[in-house]
Amino acid sequence: MKIVIWFVGAITVILTAFMLFTAGWERPPIDTSQSGFRGTGMEEVSNPRIEGPLRREQLANLPQATPLTPAMQAGPKAGDVYQNVQILGDLSVTQFNRLMQAITEWVSPEQGCGYCHNLNNLAEDSVYTKDVTRSMLTMTQTINSQWTDHVADTGVTCYTCHRGQNVPEYAWFNGDPEATAVSGMAGWRDGQNRAAAEVGLTSLPEDPFTAYLDERQEIRVLGNEALPYEESNASLQATEMTYALMIHMSTSLGVNCTYCHNSRSFGTWEGSTPQRVTSWYGIRMAQAMNKDYVSPLSSILPPHRLGPTGEGQKINCQTCHQGVQKPLYGTAMAKDYPSLLGLNSASRQSGASNDAGEASETTGSLVFSDDPEESTEVAEGSGP
Ligand code: HEC
Ligand code: HEC
Ligand code: HEC
Ligand code: HEC
Repeated sequence: MKIVIWFVGAITVILTAFMLFTAGWERPPIDTSQSGFRGTGMEEVSNPRIEGPLRREQLANLPQATPLTPAMQAGPKAGDVYQNVQILGDLSVTQFNRLMQAITEWVSPEQGCGYCHNLNNLAEDSVYTKDVTRSMLTMTQTINSQWTDHVADTGVTCYTCHRGQNVPEYAWFNGDPEATAVSGMAGWRDGQNRAAAEVGLTSLPEDPFTAYLDERQEIRVLGNEALPYEESNASLQATEMTYALMIHMSTSLGVNCTYCHNSRSFGTWEGSTPQRVTSWYGIRMAQAMNKDYVSPLSSILPPHRLGPTGEGQKINCQTCHQGVQKPLYGTAMAKDYPSLLGLNSASRQSGASNDAGEASETTGSLVFSDDPEESTEVAEGSGP
């Protein structure tokens, strides 16, 4: 009898220690805040012990802008003074150099101007990072001017993604189609069954991004018919892939599924929160940026920047959000650098919906009508 009590006691101590010292267990207090109708279980769970340090960490090294005075905006234009300025030519020389300083602080604080320039001839385009930067500049302008349905007036700068590093900490490579099991035993594992950080340490497919943020497959689980029919994309694979993307979205923002969905019905828009609509635009924005600006860079990147399929890294939700509902807690840095807002571009008036609409013409796919409700309705009407 005594031995049994000892034994039970020992097990209890071991399990308690295990619980306390392994990942995934959080010490209270836990806060909850309601985000939907009463009784629907729509609440956000957070832990101030984790939130506080995360906020301090993300905002600790936030670069401060030197104020932009009208005097700085006057004077000769960069396009007239310098030899090889293709995008920022309209800026005054002072403003141009202020932006160069900021870019250096955001992307290559250690290497300095030489990360993109041959320091003996700043006009020369011999360093590949300078070419990359031209794409990055137009991408940033496009996000800030055409995707306000997602980024609002907060906007983004290079720092939103780069945070003082040459390559953003969170970006993704197209998955290796040949990848085998970690031990090599099970052979081909179809891109899943590894506790992948990208999808919250689940064994769901670790690369939902190629299908959804690079190519444009339908993000759908629910069929509208009792039996499967040909037009429906809601296969087992598509379901796993959709859940993998959803978990990525949740972890990228540090939220639960109910931040966007009413779990009574994940598909319908009526019960969903406004944040789900914002996310719908976020998905289209990431797709468009990857397709128009980031993927084409693969041809100029050096080999050590390329992944298993020979392509460079691309953008997902985590690239900007980094675990927070609004990147950098909604700090609006872009307004200090008007040239990054892309306000001069003629495309400003057309708006984001236009972008999505265009895609619908070229792909003929259901998902790309220019507003979320409509896209679901169209899809619902598409049964046999
Ligand atoms: C992350 C890359 C990057 C960094 C770092 C960078 N630049 Fe540039 N720089 C560019 C790009 C891209 C252009 C061309 C802009 C355009 O085409 O509109 C440029 C152009 C210039 C030009 C115009 C040269 C000419 O005659 O055409 C000057 C001057 C310049 N940069 C100075 C600097 C200085 C000074 C620093 C450091 C404080 C710096 N740059 C850091 C990317 C960078
Ligand atoms: C939405 C996120 C995002 C924003 C905003 C962004 N970048 Fe990038 N940038 C990336 C990603 C992702 C890569 C990785 C491409 C690769 O090298 O594989 C990258 C790569 C680069 C590189 C190449 C680095 C290297 O060593 O190969 C440079 C230089 C760069 N960005 C500069 C900039 C500048 C300057 C800005 C602002 C005008 C900017 N980026 C804004 C996501 C972003
Ligand atoms: C940040 C917002 C957000 C979060 C968090 C989120 N989702 Fe979603 N979810 C969406 C959006 C937006 C769509 C529609 C995607 C589209 O049509 O492009 C969607 C679609 C879905 C669908 C497909 C519905 C259909 O019509 O077939 C399912 C299922 C789903 N989500 C489940 C989940 C689960 C489970 C979680 C938690 C792990 C989750 N979602 C977290 C925004 C979110
Ligand atoms: C280019 C950077 C960038 C990318 C990539 C990005 N976001 Fe955002 N997102 C932002 C910014 C900036 C805001 C803040 C807008 C504001 O102030 O209202 C934001 C806001 C949001 C919000 C609203 C938060 C709130 O509290 O109202 C949601 C939800 C969201 N993003 C989801 C996503 C999802 C899901 C993805 C991936 C499919 C994504 N975002 C990708 C930059 C980005």
